[in-house]
Amino acid sequence: MYKFCLVLLALVLIGQGCNFNDQSETTSFDKLSNDAHSFANFNEVRTTHLNLDLAVDFEKKVLQGTATWDIDKTKKAKELILDIGNLAISKITLDTGIATQYTIGPVDSIKGQALTISLKPNTTSVTIHYSTSPQAKALQWLTPAQTLGKVHPFLFSQSQAILARTWVPCQDAPGVKFTYEATIKTDSNLLALMSAENDTMLSANGIYHFKMDQPISSYLLALTVGDLKFASTGRNSGIYAEPAMLDRAVWELESMQSMIDSAEALYGPYAWGRYDVVILPPSFPFGGMENPRLTFATPTIIAGDRSLVALIAHELAHSWSGNLVTNETWNDFWLNEGFTVYFEQRIMEKIFGVPYAQMLTKLGMGDLEETIESLTAEGRIEDTHLFLNLDNQDPDDGLTDVAYEKGRFFLQTIESVVGRTRFDAFLKKYFSENKFKPMNTERFVAYLNKNLLTDEQEKADVKAAEWIYGPGMPDNAPEVNSAELDRVELAIAKFNNNRIKAKDIDITGYTTHHWLYFLRALKNLNLSKMAELDAAFNFTASGNSEIACDWFKHCIDESYKPAYPAIETFLIQVGRRKFLTPLYERLAKNKEDKLWAQKVFEKAKPGYHSVSYSTIKNIVY
Ligand code: BES
Ligand code: ZN
Repeated sequence: MYKFCLVLLALVLIGQGCNFNDQSETTSFDKLSNDAHSFANFNEVRTTHLNLDLAVDFEKKVLQGTATWDIDKTKKAKELILDIGNLAISKITLDTGIATQYTIGPVDSIKGQALTISLKPNTTSVTIHYSTSPQAKALQWLTPAQTLGKVHPFLFSQSQAILARTWVPCQDAPGVKFTYEATIKTDSNLLALMSAENDTMLSANGIYHFKMDQPISSYLLALTVGDLKFASTGRNSGIYAEPAMLDRAVWELESMQSMIDSAEALYGPYAWGRYDVVILPPSFPFGGMENPRLTFATPTIIAGDRSLVALIAHELAHSWSGNLVTNETWNDFWLNEGFTVYFEQRIMEKIFGVPYAQMLTKLGMGDLEETIESLTAEGRIEDTHLFLNLDNQDPDDGLTDVAYEKGRFFLQTIESVVGRTRFDAFLKKYFSENKFKPMNTERFVAYLNKNLLTDEQEKADVKAAEWIYGPGMPDNAPEVNSAELDRVELAIAKFNNNRIKAKDIDITGYTTHHWLYFLRALKNLNLSKMAELDAAFNFTASGNSEIACDWFKHCIDESYKPAYPAIETFLIQVGRRKFLTPLYERLAKNKEDKLWAQKVFEKAKPGYHSVSYSTIKNIVY
């Protein structure tokens, strides 16, 4: 009996020992904050490496094949939960191919569905056999007619913010990072590219292999397939574009290599090997997307005068802010974009000089003031905080200029308190110490206080809490000055007060950014002044998309009908949401324009990516 008791005691102790072990179990991954936009159980099981094997079917508009995830799991984890959106799953296997059970949860209109996969105690990898839906939100399938060359079809993806799950089953939370490799099979006359190491040449059999050895977040998974050619722009940079666009793009983006070199001189080595840009068809819904090693860009930056290249500086800067140090959840989005706008401006200053960078900054301040004003008017004051609460909405709807511009001006404020030398050293250290890791707002503040603002007076001068957790612009916001734009301001004041004719305005030396400031400062317009401006400066026929868009806003506000055919063409040709939204919003303000906008939208919508399509549909209907 005594012996039996001892054995029992020993068993209990061993049991507890196991239990104890279970709780303190150290996995190789750090715990992440809860992410309201993902179903994934990433604190129990972590996906660490993806092997993607997909065939591209332009006829059916689907990708079909397998995604194999290597996983790192706690002992207690019995299932792996992935995010999916509209995927058709045929089979799931573990490790050496044993089929396993899985369930697919109900559809959430924002998050999609949870795919719950049963694991064995020692499962190390999971293979999902699936195909995408022709309606996959991340993917846009273009007919040959929708490309420049008109001969070949085209495909591109846009995964940020939470659309990766519509083409790859994944833990679609930015805090989760993984390496990947992929095999993509497509038509043998098309080039496939991913956010990874690419071939620059066509493969004879249409099979392409990709490799990304540094860990990235799912929103940075990217694929494009089309009639693309490559041209080098320097030591580790180059451009892919449709053949008819390639020479113009190379000329326009001539500064790319020096941007990379400047960025490295500022904040440390470029971590990704090559930096290439692919110029997509005009339906790309964004200006640019910082897919690692391969920025995706709108062709609207190819303006013919190199005036819109700040966008490349921006996407390149994300190679540090965002792609190395990544917002842990979409509520921390300003850590990606605010840092990137600040960094972008520093690159621009280095290459194009202080006056140019000042113009960009002043335009940014104008955008921010307008955004804060309209968010405040809409009763969305909380959306003017840097740290957001997007938990109950689609992050795509809640991400505004605030993260970009208020974020930038917050960093500028810190810079002005501690001086540029110390701030630069701090940023360099921040990127290097936090690379390949997620960052959240709270940890950033702690890092800032520990590594930079150790002086109580400086801490008080920065007012970090007001910037991050408070509304609008704190009173220590930096002043923005631009002698170039002051010149425009003087001229425009006279024109606004009818003291000068448009044709008599001194426009010598005006660049795109002078014009943008000019257009944004126009007031007291009427039809005859619109006609006068158009006659003097030919805005309606502008080939510069930024200028055209700002001009068209006035045209709609003033019902300046001679520009409507050009507006229609613009709305049909360009799918960039930043341009479409303000134009459709203005059109929707009165009945006649709204009906017209609906007709234009019907014609334009086959060319819109889902991101632009859903935003605009909600505006016009
Ligand atoms: N990462 C963003 C694009 C994005 C943000 C896509 C949120 C989806 C959700 C990209 O870096 C960006 O900010 N692009 C800007 C250009 C930039 C110069 C401000 C754009 O597309 O207009
Ligand atoms: Zn950005």
